[in-house]
Amino acid sequence: MKNILVTGGCGFIGANFIRYLLEESDFTGRIINVDKLTYAGNPENLAGIDKQFSGRYHFVKADICDRQAMEMVFEKYQIDSVCHFAAESHVDRSIVEPDAFIKTNIVGTFNLLELARFYQDRIILFHHIGTDEVYGSLGESGYFTEKTAYSPNSPYSASKAASDHLVRSYGKTYNLPVTISNCSNNYGPYQFPEKLIPLTILNALEGKPLPVYGEGLNVRDWLYVTDHCIAVWLIMQKGKRVETYNIGGRCEMRNIDVVSVICDMIDELVTKPGNSPRRDLIAFVKDRPGHDQRYAIDFSKLETELGWIPAESFETGIKKTIKWYIDNSGWANRVKSGEYMSWIKQQYDL
Ligand code: NAD
Ligand code: DAU
Repeated sequence: MKNILVTGGCGFIGANFIRYLLEESDFTGRIINVDKLTYAGNPENLAGIDKQFSGRYHFVKADICDRQAMEMVFEKYQIDSVCHFAAESHVDRSIVEPDAFIKTNIVGTFNLLELARFYQDRIILFHHIGTDEVYGSLGESGYFTEKTAYSPNSPYSASKAASDHLVRSYGKTYNLPVTISNCSNNYGPYQFPEKLIPLTILNALEGKPLPVYGEGLNVRDWLYVTDHCIAVWLIMQKGKRVETYNIGGRCEMRNIDVVSVICDMIDELVTKPGNSPRRDLIAFVKDRPGHDQRYAIDFSKLETELGWIPAESFETGIKKTIKWYIDNSGWANRVKSGEYMSWIKQQYDL
């Protein structure tokens, strides 16, 4: 792989992946990052990378649904591999306004697959980033395996399920060399503060209410983002073509426990005016419609075939994450104020 197209590289996981590939992995080729820069795309997540890796990192502002623009990217940069992160990613937004989810997650993925098929002679790999939410919701026991039937419950997960099916079909029908990974909930640096963990950290630091849906008893399986990036790169290099790999943290937690741990850790690190515990900020609010009860991933295929297990525990990962948000309050303030949009305009002459 010499010229990897990374889509959605200015988002949370995409930016961590690009940083991991360039700063930490053995990859020696070029990365071409295509991002539309929606509200969730922030080039500041990759600040300095273009200078540090000049000639090996290129940014193109484009919509993956724009066939002509994407064709130019495939042509100009002689793309030989794709790692496809770009998506509308927030479940709550998909409930309120599903249109963009259908366009980007389904039509955008289809568009990229068609281009990969057109340039098939030089395509080594099309890796698709999927989610565990396609499997639906678990009861008290059991795990999602790669054989679990799809049963998506939100417009977000339904659109991601559709994209997984399209990718697989291009592998089966056209022999396109594809791999798919379905991962559980990520957390870590650069996550947009609409998701539970960054929202809780930033609100707790500011003494604002911490919204917990329903009774806070829904369970998610948490994975530190760099562990996800390591797993994706491993699958890209060694995964079997036209196969799916589940990725998870072996770290099931109820939402109320996640929020409570964050409150306690922040209490230890930063004194709160008035000194009352931050758990007092927890506010139980109306539940999410169709809220999946429990996710839990069985990643034994990835573990036995490729030897991957997560390096971070929740305790080490969340400590690093909280410290990162404390140390990067400027980033957080710019994101929350929307100010990063003017930063983008300056940087990219838009
Ligand atoms: P994110 O919302 O932080 O980032 C998405 C990025 O895609 C943004 O930079 C955005 O500008 C870009 N984008 C959106 N629409 C685009 C379009 N039409 N054309 C080009 N770029 C576009 O998302 P994330 O949390 O980093 O998730 C990345 C991928 O990982 C998604 O496919 C998501 O479904 C999947 N995933 C996320 C998690 C998680 O916990 N966050 C877990 C499993 C899988
Ligand atoms: O499982 C993987 C998925 O994880 C990814 O595919 C999605 O892109 C990603 O957004 C995430 O989806 P969730 O819906 O699980 O993540 P979110 O952070 O929105 O919510 C986590 C849990 O916390 C969920 O049960 C809803 C709850 N929640 C969320 C928010 C934002 C709250 O209780 N309060 C909140 O304010």
